[in-house]
Formats: sequence, structure tokens, C-alpha cells
Amino acid sequence: MLNFDFYNPTRILFGKGRIADLPKVVPAGARVLVLYGGGSIKANGVYDEVMAALSGFAVQEFAGIEPNPTYETLMQAVEQVRREKLDFLLAVGGGSVIDGTKFVAAAACFEGDPAAILDKRGRNITDALPFGSVLTLPATGSEMNEGSVVTRKSIKAKTAFSSPLVFPKFSVLDPTKTYTLPLRQVGNGVVDAFAHIMEQYMTYPVNAPVQDRFAEGLLLTLIEEGPKVLANPEDYDVRANIMWCATLALNGLIGAGVPQDWATHMVGHELTALFGLDHAQTLAIVLPNMLRVRKESKRAKLLQYASRVWNITEGNEDARIEQAIDRTQAFFEQMGVKTRLADYQLGADSIDAVLKHLESHRMVSLGEQRDVTLEVSRKVLELAV
Ligand code: NZQ
Ligand code: ZN
Repeated sequence: MLNFDFYNPTRILFGKGRIADLPKVVPAGARVLVLYGGGSIKANGVYDEVMAALSGFAVQEFAGIEPNPTYETLMQAVEQVRREKLDFLLAVGGGSVIDGTKFVAAAACFEGDPAAILDKRGRNITDALPFGSVLTLPATGSEMNEGSVVTRKSIKAKTAFSSPLVFPKFSVLDPTKTYTLPLRQVGNGVVDAFAHIMEQYMTYPVNAPVQDRFAEGLLLTLIEEGPKVLANPEDYDVRANIMWCATLALNGLIGAGVPQDWATHMVGHELTALFGLDHAQTLAIVLPNMLRVRKESKRAKLLQYASRVWNITEGNEDARIEQAIDRTQAFFEQMGVKTRLADYQLGADSIDAVLKHLESHRMVSLGEQRDVTLEVSRKVLELAV
């Protein structure tokens, strides 16, 4: 096992009815800014519940954080925070709203142009406003991690940043609040969480059986529970299992002490920034082919994955690996997330643009072995046409 620091200060309030507990975790006397997206929380009653719970606080709101939140929109929230001297933020929504709130929390305290936070990927954050979240879409793990991804529309760049100062103080996870998710977002959430686990598991063995078995347990849970949500959207237990699974997929636990990949995510971010695909759609396109192209360096873990996750034990090694990757791709399709560029009206001519962006963002030696060069990324995308 590799050396590691594990730190996670986020309190989780899990279960039905937990929004009512907000007054116990929002600091007394706080001047709160509630941030949200395009209005799903108004349609499904979450907004009313949050506002009722915060009735004893001074509350303002900021609406309109878009999926793949933009720097341009978030800077308007920063303005409001500074102008109105607000001192606590509450994100209510999916990963985009939580990520956006992380940026606002850091930018509001930042000396100089906050775009520098993205340029330095968060290493220059020295202070941030405290914030919590009410999660409505299980997918990203943002509710219990220190990462965020913000898009600069002006230059079509989607940039990840992180800092221990942007862990949420708390997150409310009420599975009943996910009943209203459109099926597209249910599928996206399951695929994103699946990809997060794979980025931390599908590398090479370092004799870390705890992390491996946690990861395999989470993958198996997604494979078993994911299709049940599509069949029974209001099954509380299924929703609860998916929600907790997505949080544990990216809260630092399974990635501690093991090598990590993240090449799929980096290539995927360029597809979103250039062509506007949902985050999970890009992962469904890239991940299976990333595994195919890098089969040799991932051989040992691919065989372990084939046997422990997909129960594939017959046939020679190459056949077992191929079958495991095919099953992975079929699972994404089963969750309603298409896996080819052509499914999103993108042809081979889109590949050069992606490679150009990868190069300009210095994404030229990705993966756990730093061997995912532009040539490797090209092969991956060519297989995905
Ligand atoms: O904007 P509203 O109206 O709220 O609608 C949202 C949005 O249109 C809707 N939605 C959310 N909860 C709902 C709901 N609709 C009905 N009922 C509900 N309960 O869903 C749509 C998508 O929301 P979004 O927040 O964009 O989705 P997601 O949670 O998948 O977040 C994606 C973003 O997170 C980033 C992605 O890059 C992308 O920008 N990621 C963040 C990570 C992190 N912080 O660690 C890691 C991930 O790899 C990922 O990169
Ligand atoms: Zn992701």
C-alpha cells in the first residue's frame, strides 16, 4: 500500500426528513446565501422545505447555477456575497450547484482575480467561507469531497480545482429528494459514480485488499441497484443505496493508499467544454475504450475486476478482459447513457479539436503511469467513433 493522508471533515445528515435539521448545523446568527440551479428545487418542494427550516436565519438566494457551472455566473454570486456581507453558503442541488458554491466560497475570500484559483487548480486558496449542501442528485461525490470543476465559457475550458478549505461543513442526503430526477440524470449519476470508482481501482495492484474490496462492493452495488431505480423510481431503499454509494465513491476513502488514474475524466472534460455533452455521457464514451487501449498496463486489475465484479472465470485472459469491458459498456447503455461519439452526433472530425484542447491544457501525460499521451488519447477516441 502507498503512504497516504486521509482527512474528511464533512458531517453527513442522511435520511428522510433531514432538511428539518438544518438549524442544528447552520451556525447560529449566520447570514446565509442559498444557491441553486435552474429551478428543479422549486418544482419538487425542496426549496420550500429548506426555506422553512431556515426561517430563523437572515437568508438571501442566488438562482441559475447551470449544469457544468460557469465562472461567469458564479462571479455574480461572489459579488452578492461581498456586497451583502453574507457569511455562510448553502448549496441546494446536484454536483454543479455544490461545485459552484465551492468556487464562490473560495473566490469571495480571494485577494486579486479569482480566475487565478482555476489557473492554479486551487493551490492558492488560503481562506474560504464555510458552506453546507443539500444534495438532490447522487453522482459526483462533491457533497463530501474537496474537489470542484468550473467552466470558463469565454475560453471553453473546464478546469478542476481542489483544496481542503472547500470541504462542505455538512451535507444533507435525503433519498426521497431524488425521486423527481429525470431518468437521464439517474443514469448519469450511476455512470459517474461507477467511473469514479474505476479511476481509483482500475490501475495496478499495490496489495491493498481493503481498498479493492470497498471498490468492488461499491461497483457491485451500482450494478445491482442502478437498474432497479429505472424500474421503481420511488423505492426508498434503492435510492438510499445509490445515494450513499455515490458519496463513498469519491470521498477519499477508496482512493487512499492506491494509485489513481483520472485520464478518462480529463478527456471527458474536454468533450463537455467543446461540445456540451453531460459529464457522465463523456465518461461512458471514453472509459470502455480507455480500458481497451490500456489493457496491458491494467492487465492484473482487469482480470481481478472480471472475476470479482462480473463473475467471469472462463476462457483465456484476453477473452475474460474483453468480456469484462464489454459488460461495463453494456451496463452504461442499460442505464440509458450512450457510449459512442456518433450517438451524440460527433464524428471522427471532432477528435482533433479534443486533442488540441488536451494539449493546450497540458493533459499530455495522464493516468497512473503518466503514459496516456496525446497519441493514446487519440486511439481511445478513434475507437469510440
Ligand atoms: O438546475 P436544476 O434545475 O436544479 O436541475 C438539475 C440539472 O438540470 C437537475 N436536477 C438535480 N437534482 C434534481 C434535478 N432534477 C429533478 N429532480 C432533482 N432532484 O439535474 C441536472 C443536472 O444537474 P448537475 O448538478 O449538473 O449534475 P451532476 O450532479 O451530475 O453534476 C455534474 C457536474 O459535477 C462535476 C461535473 O464535471 C459537472 O460539472 N463533477 C464534480 C466532481 C467533484 N466535485 O468531485 C467530480 C465529478 O467527476 C464531476 O467532474
Ligand atoms: Zn465524474
